[in-house]
Amino acid sequence: MSTAPPEEPTEADTAWDARRSWRVRPTLPGGDYHLPEVWDLERERVFATSWVCVGREEEVAPGSYVARELAGESILVVGSPEGHARAFFNVCPHRGTRLLDGSGILESGRIVCPHDGWAFDAEGALVDAPNVGRGAPGAAGRALWPVGVGAWEGFFFANLDGDREPLQVYLQRNPEGDPTPHIAAWRMADLRIAHRIDYEVAANWKILVENYSECLHCPTVHPELVRLVPLFRKGMVEEGDGAELAEGATTLTASGTSNRPPLPGLEGRDRHVYLGNHIHPTLMINLHSDCVMTYRLEPTGPRHTRVVSEYLFHPDTIARSDFDPSDIVAFWDVVSRQDWAVCEREQLGVSSRAYARGGVYPYNDHSVVDFNERYVADMHPGASRTRPLR
Ligand SMILES: [Fe+2]
Repeated sequence: MSTAPPEEPTEADTAWDARRSWRVRPTLPGGDYHLPEVWDLERERVFATSWVCVGREEEVAPGSYVARELAGESILVVGSPEGHARAFFNVCPHRGTRLLDGSGILESGRIVCPHDGWAFDAEGALVDAPNVGRGAPGAAGRALWPVGVGAWEGFFFANLDGDREPLQVYLQRNPEGDPTPHIAAWRMADLRIAHRIDYEVAANWKILVENYSECLHCPTVHPELVRLVPLFRKGMVEEGDGAELAEGATTLTASGTSNRPPLPGLEGRDRHVYLGNHIHPTLMINLHSDCVMTYRLEPTGPRHTRVVSEYLFHPDTIARSDFDPSDIVAFWDVVSRQDWAVCEREQLGVSSRAYARGGVYPYNDHSVVDFNERYVADMHPGASRTRPLR
């Protein structure tokens, strides 16, 4: 008597197995979201050792600079005449004065201290020290303190710890996995910024990352979004290769469509998905068929985060006479403000004494757990990653 061969497990079977074997995890303790001493330790153990996205390469043309905040430090990213970027602490090595603000063109290609006129070239070397002499004792050999800088997909990243761990190696151990294979088709290095919105959010940066990493809140908080992304209505996030859009939708606008052509290189399913990526610690990349929208978090303290949201398009699309990004900007602005409002409410609750020992993660929060485990590994190397659930 013959028996039928066992059927291959379906995707639904695998998802159910994962859900059934899930061990409920505790969140981080409440204090991790508001205590000044935790923020001070994060500045050392997360932000001073990670590759942190600080902008797009297009912002630093040869001979120009941008000053960016990196968790309480100001850094300068400078475009050298040869076209490569260098980064430095925004601090004069004479008396510690903040050197430059905002962005602009370097006078004669030099970084000049507004305090004493000490001047540095785009490589950070001291080239002038008025009334002292650059070769005089105390000035000779002085240079700007360097910061590691690296580029990936048109983003530039800074590392206060230098470049001991190459950026590509760092990306390979991203908590969600190496993002490069999933997003290569979007060819983000070719895209340019067409719109930017800065948001000031009264919430800890980790609350924003965690909110981004789960969709249990989507049916409640985002009625417009779940209409276009059916998976989100079920409280699920995509796994690796994106969430399919509703029938007929190609992007995230009120109509689900736009007059912009798909980005070059996108074929088939990639023209009908939304894909969200978190790059540890503070970059989120939202991929659509016609646009890439990014959130870059600039934490300013334990209870506040500035969010820089930029909309990237192909230069040929930006050059069209009918180019108008307001449809996708309007849609995401609504979704973003919905998120910031609920994050600010979460900030109020996590500071309660009732929440000192934290809350709980059911299965749908598994991406949040991946982020938390990496955070704990950064903050407390060698510590046990799994606290008991109370
Ligand atoms: Fe959300």
